[in-house]
Amino acid sequence: MRALEISDRDLSKLAIEAAKLAANYWSSLDGRPAYPATSGTQTSRLFDRPWARAGRGPAILDEFAAIAEHVRPCTGRFFGYVAGSGEPVGAIGDLLASVLNQNCTSWRSAPAAATIERVVVGWLAEAVGCAGFAGSLCGGGSTANLMGLAMARESLLPANDDGARPGVVYASEQAHMSIAKAVSLLGLGRNNLRLLPVDEDFRLRTDALRDAIALDRRQGRTPLAIVASVGTVATGAIDPLPHLAEIARAEGIWLHVDGAFGVLAALAAPEKFEGLSLADSISLDAHKWLYQPIDCSCLLHRERTAARKAFSYSGDYVRILNQDPEESFAFFDESIELTRRFRALKLWMSLQYHGRDAFREAITRDLQHAQLLARAVQSHPALELLAPVPLSAVCFRHRARDNEAILRRVIARGRVYLSNATINGRFALRACFVNHRTTREDVDEIIVEVIAAADELNA
Ligand SMILES: Cc1ncc(COP(=O)(O)O)c(C=O)c1O
Repeated sequence: MRALEISDRDLSKLAIEAAKLAANYWSSLDGRPAYPATSGTQTSRLFDRPWARAGRGPAILDEFAAIAEHVRPCTGRFFGYVAGSGEPVGAIGDLLASVLNQNCTSWRSAPAAATIERVVVGWLAEAVGCAGFAGSLCGGGSTANLMGLAMARESLLPANDDGARPGVVYASEQAHMSIAKAVSLLGLGRNNLRLLPVDEDFRLRTDALRDAIALDRRQGRTPLAIVASVGTVATGAIDPLPHLAEIARAEGIWLHVDGAFGVLAALAAPEKFEGLSLADSISLDAHKWLYQPIDCSCLLHRERTAARKAFSYSGDYVRILNQDPEESFAFFDESIELTRRFRALKLWMSLQYHGRDAFREAITRDLQHAQLLARAVQSHPALELLAPVPLSAVCFRHRARDNEAILRRVIARGRVYLSNATINGRFALRACFVNHRTTREDVDEIIVEVIAAADELNA
């Protein structure tokens, strides 16, 4: 046999064994700790090794158990950050996408895959009330935000030919770090990012925005874009979209929505997202609140021409000779990527396997779990809710103990995992619900674990 070839029989055995490992792993998830008991020394001892000259064959699967033991499992009791749950049908879709190994640069290089991606992007747009928006899938919300702001820059302060000129970007002080990163990468200069004050609900204050734009204009600077956070990473606050859209229109500037965390909740609670369709571009993360395996993000945009203006620059060797609108379509004309995975297959399979109602129900349950926890916090004398809960992030604290120490103990106990946030200068324990596996009992455990950790500190 030639190098790297595997017989049909051996490959089939390997695939069956891998499928068994996957199925056993999924059924073991509930019994796994919320965070692995491991250390850097341990993971290095287990996995840091030279690349051997001789192959190990099917024995490579034997190590899956050890790897699984030292990764963070997607159990229903992991409430940190904005961590999706890796829906298994989507994972099978990812495997099959790798089997097909399509390069979704364009219809020409991946005919069915390119069509499927355009269809699922249309489903996502329609599901969040933005039918007619086009877009593409990408690796993460950070990339989607970068692409949205690149479109803003190229539409209003074209830079692709002569280089970037400063333009001012406005967001709330609660905006995700990927916004500052995008502003710097686009050469706009981080000093041209205005992180503006929020109201008592952590929403961007429109009076502060109007004042900041007016001041910048008076001082000779060029306002470029407003970034609305729809689901801030700390508290899930939703910036006032209709007002921001009105200001963007009046000022002739771009409105980008960072909806990486929150926008997909529009599937279950559309009333919270009024004004979303007025945006010029919207990022959303299917690997967060649509439960898909990482990676699966999406940038939606209203004007395909704006995407082409920002991203189209073809070398002669990829020039498309076909005139048919479907067959001449190229994602590389509308995104920063050239070689692209067939990310759409997992969505195509997972969304159709379960159907739209099931996703709506899972998101509704996440929203209810957040309210359940908020009520439990409010009714516990030792705990204090630190922020409103418009979506599914809950920030709270123990009134009398060191909350940072509580968090460390909660994580060490291993039953639930929480992360942290700073709310009005105070250290907050934070639980976020974007996991279809979470049960009501899992939610109840949060308070039990926090109080137990606080008691241990006292002991
Ligand atoms: C509001 C918000 N924007 C952007 C991002 C970045 O998304 P990603 O981690 O997929 O790059 C996150 C991640 O949590 C987020 O919560």
